[in-house]
This record gives sequence, structure tokens and C-alpha cells, in this order.
Amino acid sequence: MLHRITEYISEEKIDQRIRELAEQISRDYAKKEVRLICILKGSIFYTCELAKRLTIPVTMDFMSVSSYGAGMRSSGKITIKKDLDESIRGLDVLVVEDIIDSGNTLHELIPMLWERGPASIKVTTLLDKPSRRESQIDVDYVGFEIEDKYIVGYGLDYDQSYRDLPYIGIIEL
Ligand code: IMP
Ligand code: MG
Repeated sequence: MLHRITEYISEEKIDQRIRELAEQISRDYAKKEVRLICILKGSIFYTCELAKRLTIPVTMDFMSVSSYGAGMRSSGKITIKKDLDESIRGLDVLVVEDIIDSGNTLHELIPMLWERGPASIKVTTLLDKPSRRESQIDVDYVGFEIEDKYIVGYGLDYDQSYRDLPYIGIIEL
């Protein structure tokens, strides 16, 4: 695919912000171990960059849920395409998202995770589009609040393309 993409948040800015978030999260979880739950596929870059910079002990697991299909809009219901490999019972869980848009995905997912008996659940997202929220959710650590633009790069796709861009860009559709 070939679209015009304009840089919106540079690699350096993302890097700097993740460092800040990692410091804050490491402080908040001091003396605890955190289980990062990466929501595939978009959160993969953010999860890795965050994990490398956390100074507390970290374990990771991966989950894939869908609410979008091939389109760009989230529906209310999610299906688990790939579940976690490990139990989260008794663990301090940090759900790592790429972007929160309608909030519908996490609104469905978080109660499902609570049913599995973790000690705590917090949420971090690299990007947040608060103006598009349909379901209220509590987000503990936000990288960047952004306007209502469709963005790609740093894990985020348009029809599976452009995840590999090292920066976040606005795509002209
Ligand atoms: P929500 O349920 O509407 O909050 O959906 C969140 C998911 O939608 C994210 O994890 C992304 O996979 C996808 N998404 C929302 N906005 C964008 C965007 O601007 N670019 C790429 N993916 C997006
Ligand atoms: Mg996603």
C-alpha cells in the first residue's frame, strides 16, 4: 500500500515520553513485579520499549482481541483471537494498549480480566483520543493525548500496513 503519511509524533518524542512513563510506572510499582499484557498487534512496539526501561521485575504475556475486523471503527463486542498463555491470578497486571479510541475494547476486556483473579489491573496506552470516547474507562498512564485523526506507525496499522514506521504519522485516506 502506498499512502501519503505526515509525521505527527517523532521517534525521539515517543522515546522520551516512554522513558518518563517507565520511570513513573517503576516508582508506582516499587517492590512489586508487574505482568505486562500486550494487546496484539498494535501494542507490540510500545510494550517492548516500555519493558526495556522499567526498573522493576517484569513478565509479559500477549493477547489478541478483535472488535474492528478489517474496518476502522470499533464495535461494542470483542472476541478473543489469542488468549493469554499464563494465569494472572494474584498478579499485578498492566494492560498495554497502543491507542484508546472509543474505549469499547477495554471496556469489555477489563471485566473479563478481573474475573481471572488478578491482584490489580492498571492500564497504559501510548495514545489516547479522548474526544472519541463512547465507553468510560480509567486509564492510568497515557503517553500522548491526540486529536481525532487516523494515525499509523509505531505498531499502529491501516489495513495491516505501516506498523513498521518508527514514528507516528497521519495517513491521508
Ligand atoms: P477502541 O475500542 O475504539 O478504543 O479501539 C482501540 C483499538 O482500535 C486500538 O487498539 C487500535 O487497534 C484501533 N485504532 C483506533 N484508532 C486507531 C488509529 O487512529 N490508528 C490505528 N488503529 C486505531
Ligand atoms: Mg489495538
